[in-house]
Amino acid sequence: MHANPLAPAWLPVPADANALAAAVWPESAHRDDDGVLRIGGVSAVDLAERFGTPLYVVDEADVRSRAARVRAAFLAAFGRIDSTARVYYAGKAFLSTAVARWVAEAGLGIDVASGGELAVALAAGTDPSTIGVHGNAKSTAELRRAVEVGVGSIVIDSLAEVARVAAIARELGRVQAVRLRINSGVHASTHEYLATSHEDQKFGVPLTGALEAVAAIRAEESIVFLGLHSHIGSQIFESEGFSAAISRLMGLHARLLRDGPVPQLNLGGGFGIAYTDVDSPRPIEQIADDMAAELAAAASRLGVPVPDVALEPGRSIVGPAGVTLYRVEVVKPLEVSVPTAPDAPALEPGASRETATATRTYVSVDGGMSDNIRPALYRADYSARIASRVSAADPMLARVAGKHCEGGDIVVHAEYLPGDVEPGDLLAVPATGAYGWAMASNYNWIARPPVVAVRDGAARVIVHGETIDDLLRRDAGLEGSTTP
Ligand SMILES: Cc1ncc(COP(=O)(O)O)c(C=O)c1O
Repeated sequence: MHANPLAPAWLPVPADANALAAAVWPESAHRDDDGVLRIGGVSAVDLAERFGTPLYVVDEADVRSRAARVRAAFLAAFGRIDSTARVYYAGKAFLSTAVARWVAEAGLGIDVASGGELAVALAAGTDPSTIGVHGNAKSTAELRRAVEVGVGSIVIDSLAEVARVAAIARELGRVQAVRLRINSGVHASTHEYLATSHEDQKFGVPLTGALEAVAAIRAEESIVFLGLHSHIGSQIFESEGFSAAISRLMGLHARLLRDGPVPQLNLGGGFGIAYTDVDSPRPIEQIADDMAAELAAAASRLGVPVPDVALEPGRSIVGPAGVTLYRVEVVKPLEVSVPTAPDAPALEPGASRETATATRTYVSVDGGMSDNIRPALYRADYSARIASRVSAADPMLARVAGKHCEGGDIVVHAEYLPGDVEPGDLLAVPATGAYGWAMASNYNWIARPPVVAVRDGAARVIVHGETIDDLLRRDAGLEGSTTP
């Protein structure tokens, strides 16, 4: 079969549009004898019947094993250079009390980015000393709560925050450990990175302001300096960006050692995952080794001891463990014009280029940007498979669209699905475990779906879904009247 000219260059026509690429699906995903997708030993058809669609499905064993694997990778790599690594799960990717317990049982701390995430981590029974707190605009109430419960570290994001945290800790009679987030000017995404002299973004203190901020921290008795923090971006496939950040931060780290202890270096998260068959992020073990090698080299170049390291992976732990199930509602083939020579020079005004047409089939499902905003927000690519059956039909280029009143409401920009995909089919989109539920909304008054954990053939709700009644209860205009 030939590629559809509307398909992006990176998307090959699959030999089998039913196949589940191992890198993209949870470890346990496979098709049973009837061709139905099973995750954690539970059939997608049964899940949809029991819990409805859309539905977030999380493979519990997969989250646990990825958490353990990531931690082991960093411990091994940094252990080899006589350092050690503390791994915090970045709760912003997806936090519920169940997930907080799974990662804690795998030996990870939790990194929280708001008072809400802190409350969830605490409600799960997380040891506060294993919690790190982030945020560029933390409120006084959030800081107070964090200090009060005894979180392990607070990442200070600006010079002004030094005095605020110090005052709160003093008032509460505590000595609070803090890090300082540095805007190193290194920015990375997928396989590219940029190192600029100063970057125009809201997080952290620029390298040039770091000495003043650390001096301010050290001048306070109620806070103690743990070290520098850097998070350079997300969905990073290669090691270069991390190496560039380590090199820059270690220069500063060494300078700070002249005036006092700097026990740790926090290198953030951002480790990439495969969303489609063609994505191949460098394995975490190799990234960890590369980071450790760079750290050791920088320390020896600068003549300073290798610091202990902290890391904050989120997506790489929960992303590949999640699958969203949708029901196909409408299949709409469209004839779309395709320029026959897309690279030809621009035409004179009024002239028209010869065009051919190709078919793009819109497969509209019962969810969309309210359960996964990433395709609309970042133009993120995903993949999809029919979950309820296998099909021998030829692959057909499809665009999976959501049900929202928004042209940009796309679930999967481009994917080859079996050509006989039809209303009623269950569609599964893999790698939705991170930043899916966490960024969900009620756009169009659509209730957010539940999250169901599957494991050893059993399914249980770990976050309840909403109903329209739940949403109507928030409409203050109905107070005092009877809900229709
Ligand atoms: C400070 C910080 N740490 C960690 C993370 C987690 O990143 P990821 O989920 O890509 O690993 C983020 C994500 O935005 C972040 O801002």
